[in-house]
Amino acid sequence: MEYEICLEPSGIRFMADAGQNIVEAAKQHGIPIKHGCASGSCGDCKGTILSGDSEQGPFMPLLLLPTERAAGMAILCKLYPRSDLHLRAEVVPKDTWTAAITRLTPLAWNVLELRLQPERPYPYRTGQYARIAIPGHPDQWRSYSMATPPDATGTLVFHIRELPGGIFSQWLFHEAQIGDQLMLGSAQGEFTLHSDNDRDMLCIAAGTGLSPIEAIIHESIALGRTRPIHLFYGARKQADFYHLEELAKWSQQYPHITITPTLSDTQDTSWTGAHRLLPTVAASGHWKDHEVYLCGGPGMIEAAIDLLLSHEVQHDHIHFDAFAPNG
Ligand SMILES: Cc1cc2nc3c(=O)[nH]c(=O)nc-3n(C[C@H](O)[C@H](O)[C@H](O)COP(=O)(O)OP(=O)(O)OC[C@H]3O[C@@H](n4cnc5c(N)ncnc54)[C@H](O)[C@@H]3O)c2cc1C
Ligand code: FES
Repeated sequence: MEYEICLEPSGIRFMADAGQNIVEAAKQHGIPIKHGCASGSCGDCKGTILSGDSEQGPFMPLLLLPTERAAGMAILCKLYPRSDLHLRAEVVPKDTWTAAITRLTPLAWNVLELRLQPERPYPYRTGQYARIAIPGHPDQWRSYSMATPPDATGTLVFHIRELPGGIFSQWLFHEAQIGDQLMLGSAQGEFTLHSDNDRDMLCIAAGTGLSPIEAIIHESIALGRTRPIHLFYGARKQADFYHLEELAKWSQQYPHITITPTLSDTQDTSWTGAHRLLPTVAASGHWKDHEVYLCGGPGMIEAAIDLLLSHEVQHDHIHFDAFAPNG
């Protein structure tokens, strides 16, 4: 069964099958509704149902606050039409940038630092991510967070994990050369520093989830803010950690910054630090009045949200970016 979908304010209309979510159906018609993970984990496809019937599939907790649900907001990559629908949804300009690879530096056995120089200024806010087209697959995009705040050089820095069978990461680790050109879509995401309050900051990063968290801490330092920041940084095994020395330097230079690396491999007796990310966070403080920044895989984010809510941290002080697969 097909239904007509009408988008506001653009007035764009297209048909969607009952078994297709709105983002997928729009994509099939060449309409770029704003989205990131396309799997209910990032919240970038939020829209509003103006009229019509639909079915909302499951998505990451907290992507929609109760007030947003009451106002008719929906996660469009998990929204299925059950009648003709009238929706408010952001359609992204089809603006793209070409950027040359200027450096590829190993950070850990499965993490590379990728540096890109866009051919013209690439505007973004600290903590946002870029969508990068996979070379040779121009209709397939992958999301990667910028690891540093914007600066005068215009260079973009990313921390990229190699995934077994990963189309983009396998190309980057094994074929990419300095000078290769990549295509970028405009920057996206709402995972940015909230500098409108003086709450202490709790940051929790797992794996390359460190990338936007580093950028956010970097920006806080550059703004001259001295509110306490506690960063918990988790890895599976010791070889997975990267930037431990750089983080240690931050905590030596800035007394308001505390770094706690944690290891999930509890069998590793050569590790003298803390084991297991979230239990360490839970045991390390009272987080009720903190501004919280979470970044890592969707499983970690969901478990962290549960933990924080049980510590009475308010919804609107929990910010997160889930590094969901976006194949
Ligand atoms: C907003 C956002 C920002 C992101 N920023 C970063 C970043 O800065 N650095 C970074 O390394 N990654 C980041 N990611 C995750 C990255 O975009 C995905 O992992 C992406 O799918 C990797 O592309 P690939 O082509 O290498 O692998 P794919 O071809 O997409 O996937 C290969 C296989 O790995 C699985 N897979 C993919 N991603 C994951 C995952 N995260 N965890 C477990 N299994 C997975 C897939 O299901 C598939 O089986 C981000 C994701 C989002 C949504
Ligand atoms: S694109 Fe819909 S939640 Fe990420």
